[in-house]
Amino acid sequence: MLPDVARAWEHLQRVAQELFTRYGYEPVYTPLFEHTEVFSRGIGEATDIVSKEMYTFEDKGGRSITLRPEGTASVVRSALEHNLTANGAQAKLYYAGPMFRYERPQKGRMRQFWQIGIEVLGAAEPTADAEVIAVLWGYFEALGLPRESMRLLLNSMGDDACRPAYRDGIAAFIRAHSADLCDECDRRAATNPLRAFDCKNPACREVMAGAPLLRDELCEACASHYAAVKTHLDALGIPYVEDSSLVRGLDYYTRTVFEIQVEAGLGSQNAIGGGGRYDRLMEAYGGPATPGLGFALGFERTLLALEAAGVGIPAPPRAEVYVARVDDTVTAEVFGLAQRLREAGIAAELDHQARSLKSQFKQADRLGARFVVIVGPDELAAGEVTLRDMGTKEETRVALGIAVDAVIAALG
Ligand code: HAM
Repeated sequence: MLPDVARAWEHLQRVAQELFTRYGYEPVYTPLFEHTEVFSRGIGEATDIVSKEMYTFEDKGGRSITLRPEGTASVVRSALEHNLTANGAQAKLYYAGPMFRYERPQKGRMRQFWQIGIEVLGAAEPTADAEVIAVLWGYFEALGLPRESMRLLLNSMGDDACRPAYRDGIAAFIRAHSADLCDECDRRAATNPLRAFDCKNPACREVMAGAPLLRDELCEACASHYAAVKTHLDALGIPYVEDSSLVRGLDYYTRTVFEIQVEAGLGSQNAIGGGGRYDRLMEAYGGPATPGLGFALGFERTLLALEAAGVGIPAPPRAEVYVARVDDTVTAEVFGLAQRLREAGIAAELDHQARSLKSQFKQADRLGARFVVIVGPDELAAGEVTLRDMGTKEETRVALGIAVDAVIAALG
């Protein structure tokens, strides 16, 4: 990431920190790699991520380790390891960093990509679902992405009470239509039938459009949880589209799942962020039953979506003031003044390449400096420097002793 992109990344992280902190989330950093089973057990052996996309290798101690393909498994693993949710405590955490998936690279899909995410552990109430969705939605709005360019998809995956029967029903549906489905979907009947909803093959999509909907077969508890989430979203004025084919690519989900997609700029990789509830994940690691939920958003895709919507990333000037020297008899004063300006909180730059005065002005322009302080032997002899407004080209003399204050006043 060169400075243009790195600056955007820092902006995205700053906006995230500010917003997530307001909602009570605390930062967490997890390792870039974990024991492989953290992901295989958490995300699910039959998922594409675990079965095809992990960077897994043996370390020198013969242990199988994997570069993290996502953050949720690691956050839940560490919360359990460090007892963050002991005695019913709630943990609200956020993270940002690189993730690794061995996918076929294309626009918006890379093998090392960056995510920002949040996780809430210990919260079972549907207000938590609505809050997490509101944070994701609000984050994209805070970045300046217009509402109209986003589509929030919402679904419920059910739970252990209603999903197994539904899963069996879909497996039977797939077997009954296997002649019209691709080989992969056919295999999914045995491994992960709900993933057939996610197949990109048009023939499979057509068949699956006729499959029974989980929404219609949710148990009482899941149906009322789902209804409450929708009520809370309605109250917040967050528009959503119910999509029963939204199954997501990770097996840990229960109940609410969601994704935000954009129309423009991303082609088929149009999900900029997504997440859901995973009430059984901590148990999968041998911990106590602890509800959880969260989201992650992709940095690269968010940038592409912002670009397509014509939203820029704020780029502060690299220098507000440039301190220029007329010749090298005044180098010490120039160096000293630049330092005093920086200590006063002003972005100041000076020449380190023995440039001519003319090219120092050009450099000042390139850096976006609004003022140049010109230090020359004649002015210095009078105890003064010249303050040049780069916009109006107006020049004023000020006493060297008050040059810092004069610059502060001029910058307003
Ligand atoms: P995910 O949907 O797999 O969910 O990834 C979240 C986001 O990461 C996607 O919406 C996308 O923007 C970005 N992303 C994923 N793969 C790539 C890739 N290969 N290249 C570029 N961007 C990518 C999760 O990872 C879950 N851990 C989300 C979650 C948190 N669920 C609950 N808590």
